[in-house]
Amino acid sequence: MNKLCLLGLVVSLASQSAFADTPAAPLQDKQAFIANLLKQMTQDEKIGQLRLISIGPEMPRERIREEIAAGRIGGTFNSRTAPENRPMQDAAMRSRLKIPMFFAYDVIHGNRTIFPISLGLAATWDMQAIAKVGRTSAIEASADSLDMTFAPMVDIARDPRWGRTSEGFGEDTYLTSRIGKVMVQSFQGSSPANPDSIMAIVKHFALYGAVEGGRDYNTVDMSLPKMYNDYLPPYRASLDAGAGGVMVALNSINGVPATSNTWLMNDLLRKDWGFKGVTISDHGAIQELIRHGVARDGREAAKLAIKAGIDMSMNDTLYGEELPGLLKSGEVTQAELDQAVREVLGAKYDMGLFKDPYVRIGKAETDVKDYYADQRLHREAARDVARRSLVLLENRAQTLPLKKSGTIAVVGPLADAPIDMMGSWAADGRPEHSVTVREGLRRAVGDKAKLVYAKGANVTGDKAMFDYLNFLNFAAPEIINDPRPAAVLIDEAVKAAKQSDVVVAVVGESRGMSHESSSRTTLEIPESQRALIKALKATGKPLVLVLMNGRPLSLAWEREQADAILETWFSGTEGGNAIADVLFGDYNPSGKLAITFPRSVGQIPMYYNHLRIGRPFTPGKPGNYTSQYFEEPNGPLYPFGYGLSYSDFSLSGLNLSSKSVKQGQDLQASILVKNTGKRDGETVVQLYIQDVSASMSRPVKELKNFQKVMLKAGEERTLHFTVKADDLKFYNGQLQWAAEPGEFRVQVGLDSQAVQEQSFELL
Ligand code: NOJ
Repeated sequence: MNKLCLLGLVVSLASQSAFADTPAAPLQDKQAFIANLLKQMTQDEKIGQLRLISIGPEMPRERIREEIAAGRIGGTFNSRTAPENRPMQDAAMRSRLKIPMFFAYDVIHGNRTIFPISLGLAATWDMQAIAKVGRTSAIEASADSLDMTFAPMVDIARDPRWGRTSEGFGEDTYLTSRIGKVMVQSFQGSSPANPDSIMAIVKHFALYGAVEGGRDYNTVDMSLPKMYNDYLPPYRASLDAGAGGVMVALNSINGVPATSNTWLMNDLLRKDWGFKGVTISDHGAIQELIRHGVARDGREAAKLAIKAGIDMSMNDTLYGEELPGLLKSGEVTQAELDQAVREVLGAKYDMGLFKDPYVRIGKAETDVKDYYADQRLHREAARDVARRSLVLLENRAQTLPLKKSGTIAVVGPLADAPIDMMGSWAADGRPEHSVTVREGLRRAVGDKAKLVYAKGANVTGDKAMFDYLNFLNFAAPEIINDPRPAAVLIDEAVKAAKQSDVVVAVVGESRGMSHESSSRTTLEIPESQRALIKALKATGKPLVLVLMNGRPLSLAWEREQADAILETWFSGTEGGNAIADVLFGDYNPSGKLAITFPRSVGQIPMYYNHLRIGRPFTPGKPGNYTSQYFEEPNGPLYPFGYGLSYSDFSLSGLNLSSKSVKQGQDLQASILVKNTGKRDGETVVQLYIQDVSASMSRPVKELKNFQKVMLKAGEERTLHFTVKADDLKFYNGQLQWAAEPGEFRVQVGLDSQAVQEQSFELL
């Protein structure tokens, strides 16, 4: 932009601004500006700023605008285009102090262009790809007038029964922290005030992923060292990356709901971590304090929440209703109210809304005609990221890649399922934009091969699940069951298989099965689909399973039936094309699991970085009184970090720069990686650390670094890693973060299980 344009922009911003020309309120100085504004606000206006309202059918728009103009609403969520949001901002500009509104939405893995679900993004282990997702989402969301997203969700998930496993980045602290940081930076760009940035609200603070039994909204009970070492760092990393806010979790933590948890928000978040942004409750969470059994009534709930540090109340009723009385009686102080208001105004300031309330809404003349036009999508980016997220779990006898010739049967209830391609929390994505697997394969083969399609089974034959899944989507049925008997559907698929050279069966979960409040007690593919797989196997045709799911599934039986298995998560708008790219070898798969796949639900919790124990089971040396189960071998079906490629890779010669290091010093590790296959390909070289003996039992290993490398067929390269002094530190029993002298092991592998190892001594 040249200087003249820049000047023009500044002038136009200043003329739209509510405060820029108030001499007592220097806009350049955030604190002074907010202090000055606060002085002018009535108590009701202050309370209004703490109210975040969901725009939905329950509240008529006219009423909302009146409330806004009266200064009784601070921001909204769920309304997501400029024509919807402009009248609300206009109403705010009619309010006494013209404090701008902000408009938020759950932009989790894309806004209109839908990228793979977060668990799939994590499987890319590719920070550039993830940055592309965050940036594209921000560009699309801000172009549609949104200022804020309730993302990233960085809850560590080690219990795949929890449906929201799909929404996070898996089980690992380090990987999730890296991704959380990249997401925040790419949503916010160089500043959340930029017109094409959106503010990131990190969620759900804290420990939501550890709900007991994987049952959503359940309680969390956790030791402090586990909390500090494993669960808290991703929130911290995302906040250190500059996230503007935090959404507080719905669960309780060691008996105290997060929403009324003074230790969590005041002591840890504000004092220890020095967090300066806004805190937002989750939907209706303040009211829920009554059902948690810590508040007698709404009045007490509102009091507990504001005193504990909840600035903004999502879908508020109680702050609006109860704070006036609580302030009058002195139970809530003016200082407490002011503090919360200051944070909300601060967030608005940081989003650039005081400079220009219409910074993302723009002028009516520039509104797009068709918000859902295909040209508005970023399809190329979506395809690129989607194919990086796919994980090849099995490939016997080089079943894959497939040839683009002969006849291919495409079967399964998810083969042609545009809604499911998007996964849950698909923001403003539209199913009609999704490329399904069937469509992706059709485009890939053109007229070179024949495709035959049959649905083969319904996603589930369970009536209760079917009803629940359809209840989740108010707008349209989520899943439509074929009314014909199961045997007829299977028969049709078997016929298709028999006339084909290979069968691609797209099976797994519908997207609603891996969603908020979609917990499961089994990780199996529903029976209706297993019956289909069995019948397909009986045809003797090569069988490729393409899985769609938002959590690890237990696949021990499927592994025996299939010749190849490709894990595709819910891969987004361009998923079908990306899956075709991998199935036909136009892209060599490089994804690696960001979460362990257990053999069965009975092994849960199962995660790679578990603590060491006194009587471990040693493979090959079965013994009584060792830690094992009767029915199944120890260990996962597919470990964390695992994923195949059409190339083979080898690692050799792990070398450390020294046999010992002093406190505070770094160490260098190097290893040779070689592509021993016939195709160019990418792999992820993972570096883990084990603290062999410490004041507390430490994990068998912990991921501390990784590099994703592209190697040509036959190419080898020496990779260098720095083992940093901080990589050896942990929170001990006294919650001191320190490295303890003694032996450490550096382990390097292409997954978390098959590793090479070298030790060194910390002096
Ligand atoms: C409830 C969910 O827990 C949270 O993640 C989401 O951001 C809000 N609803 C708003 O949709």
